[in-house]
Formats: sequence, C-alpha cells, structure tokens
Amino acid sequence: MIEPARILVAVGGGIAAYKVPELVRALVGQGHTVRCVLTDAATQFVSPLVLQTLTGEAVRRGLLDVSEEGEIDHIRLADQSDLVIVAPATADLMARMAHGLANDLVSAVLLATRAPILMAPAMNVNMWNHPATQRNLELLRERGVLQVGPESGELACGWEGLGRMAAPPSIVSAADRALSSGSLSGQCVLVTAGGTTEPIDPVRGITNRSSGKMGFALAAEAARRGAEVVLVAGSTSLPTPEAVRRVDVGTALEMRAAVLQELEGATVIIKAAAVADFRPREAADRKLKKETLVESDVMSLELVRNPDILEEICQIKGERIVVGFAAESHDVIPAARRKIERKGCDLLVANDVSRSDAGFSTDLNAVHLITPDGAVEDVSLRHKAEVASQILDRIEKIRGEREA
Ligand code: CTP
Repeated sequence: MIEPARILVAVGGGIAAYKVPELVRALVGQGHTVRCVLTDAATQFVSPLVLQTLTGEAVRRGLLDVSEEGEIDHIRLADQSDLVIVAPATADLMARMAHGLANDLVSAVLLATRAPILMAPAMNVNMWNHPATQRNLELLRERGVLQVGPESGELACGWEGLGRMAAPPSIVSAADRALSSGSLSGQCVLVTAGGTTEPIDPVRGITNRSSGKMGFALAAEAARRGAEVVLVAGSTSLPTPEAVRRVDVGTALEMRAAVLQELEGATVIIKAAAVADFRPREAADRKLKKETLVESDVMSLELVRNPDILEEICQIKGERIVVGFAAESHDVIPAARRKIERKGCDLLVANDVSRSDAGFSTDLNAVHLITPDGAVEDVSLRHKAEVASQILDRIEKIRGEREA
C-alpha cells in the first residue's frame, strides 16, 4: 500500500492534457491530495474547472496573479509536494525544465521543488526524435527526473510512432514506484554493463557493439529504488548514474574477477554485459607491424575461450537472484529458452539484436522476459529506462514469490 501523499500535477499544453482528469481521478482515488497547476496553453486543452472539481483543490495558472499567490504562493506549492507529475511533458516544457527557465508558474514550481519529478512526455514523433529534445531528455535524466512513456502508436497529429503520453494507469504505477522508492532498500544489486575488449596488442582489441545503456539504466533504476548498487562497467562512454559505485574493467577475465570480488554482498546480480566468448591466446606487448607479420594478405589470430561468468555464478548463487541477458539474432524465444536452461539463471532478458530500432547502441529496447519454466512476458518497444523499470519489477516479483 502506498501512503497518501501530496502530489502536484503540472499540466503542459498538449492535446494529451485531455487525459489528465482521468489521471487526477485515479490519484485522488488512491487517497492522495492532488493539486494542479497549468500552463496557459494547457487551459486550451483541459478545463481548470474540471480539475478543480476532481481534486477539490484550487487550480493555479498564473505566476503573478495577486489573488492566486495570496492563497498559496508558488514556492509553498513546490515545497508542499511529495511528488510532482508533469503530464503531458511537452517538448517546450521539457526544454524549459532542462534549461532552468522559470518564466511561468509551472516552470517556476518545477525549478523550486525539491520533490521527485515524474514526467510523462507527449509530442509529435519528430519533435520527440529531434536532437534538441533528446539532449534535454538526457539532461533531465542525469538530474534524476523520472520518466514514464512516451508510448508508440497513432498520434493525434496523424503521425505514427513514439510520442503518445503513457496511459493514466501507467503514470499512476510510475507514481507509486516513485513514492515507494525504497522497494529495493536493503538489497545489494550487482550489475554488469557494456562490452568487454580483448586486446590483440597495445592499440588493438576485439570488442562488440554494446553501448552499456541497458545496464546503466538498470543500475540507475535499482539505485533509485533504494538498493546499494555496484556497476561493473566494460567499454562504454556513459557517465556513472547517481548513487552507484562503479568498477571499470576491460577484458572478460577482469570482469569475472570484479564480479567474483563483489559477489559476496550481492543479493541480486544482473548480467547485462556483452562478454566476449573468446580472447586472443596472447596479447602482443608491442604494436604488431604488418610488414613483419604477414607473408601473405592473411593474418590469423588464435582465440581461446573465455570463462562463462554467468554460468559460473549460477552454480554458486545460493539465495541470490541472478538475471542473464541473451543477445539473439534469430529464433529469439527458442534460443533464449535453451540459454536459460543451460545457464541456470532465475530470469533471462532476451534481446532481438537484428532489429534496427532496438537493442545495441540505441536508446530503445524491446525484450522478452523468460523464466526457468519457459514462460515469456513481452516488453514492447520503449526507452531503456522503462525497460529497466519493468525488469526490476519482475525481479521484485520473484523476490516476493520466494518470500511468500
Ligand atoms: N555471459 C557471460 N560470460 C561469457 C559470455 C556471456 O557471463 N563469457 C553472459 C552475458 O553477460 C549474458 C549471457 O551470458 O548475460 C548471455 O550472453 P550471450 O552473448 O547472449 O550468450 P552466450 O553465452 O555468449 O552464447 P552465444 O554467443 O552462443 O549465443
């Protein structure tokens, strides 16, 4: 059960604002005290009177309105909230949040509040994909702003794609999670992320296309849920998420050593890293020169097998929950079912790496969650932060089932 909280809903000026009464109603139904603030544009899409009636609280629109400020000033609105939900978070509102503008009531409150902010973006797909919006999104995420959606589908503007505001029940679930942010407190989550690099000589190595984004998103979300998080990171250029302890490694052997070293205290292990299955038998200590090396145009490298870290951990995991990943390019589900059986983990996250819109290097992912009994749960295309959230929900469910 979520304790009743004070939730401020900041409504942006987009067509999706018509769904806000439904959201507000659900939040009030859970026992929360809900207040709404609207941008000028938002009042074109949703009636302040409807929101006032549903919440039983005065709705505020203007920053410099003497009578509104007299009732409750904007700083008190910001201070007296346990959670701020921005719905819809339009491209413009996200830009203003990212750059710290405070030129209307909504942006001023968003700048002044110390409460967690959960945004539900909604806009045209091209506005969403624009580098400016994506950069703003990154900035906001780095600052710990939580996100739900957008979802993919038919948009009000006639386009198809990502940009639809998350449905009110999804926003309510995300709000529940934000308010009960300690759902993993007391747990120690060990995450591996990124690719390994197996050296050939001091300037060359064998690596793969993993960006580390999925593993980093998992680490960030686990930390947000109150877990102590250790992130064993292979090759990646991503910044360390807040409140996460990071251990950098290069090769699969280094990753194995780091994982075994950190294993003791871990209660959950998530192996999102793309580990090289083979490494050159010997790495040259000086740069290989082609004149001295090859007599013909062919050069051979002898590769030896790397240990399978996931398989090894599963043999000694005890009570720990171990989650593996599977990168598959074809026959995804059957291959993943064989993999979970072979590796012996508690959950396998299967990625179809042949898709160009998801997986390696992209910000989006679509996965299948597979359990040892062969059951499959699909997570459709969405941002990796959201996929991470669903994976952690599933892990918490496994923990709950075990405890029961
Ligand atoms: N993994 C590991 N150690 C390895 C290889 C893989 O711990 N040497 C882990 C990965 O971190 C991932 C899971 O095993 O969680 C599956 O990785 P994947 O590359 O999909 O499978 P492989 O075991 O390498 O099998 P294959 O390449 O034949 O599909």
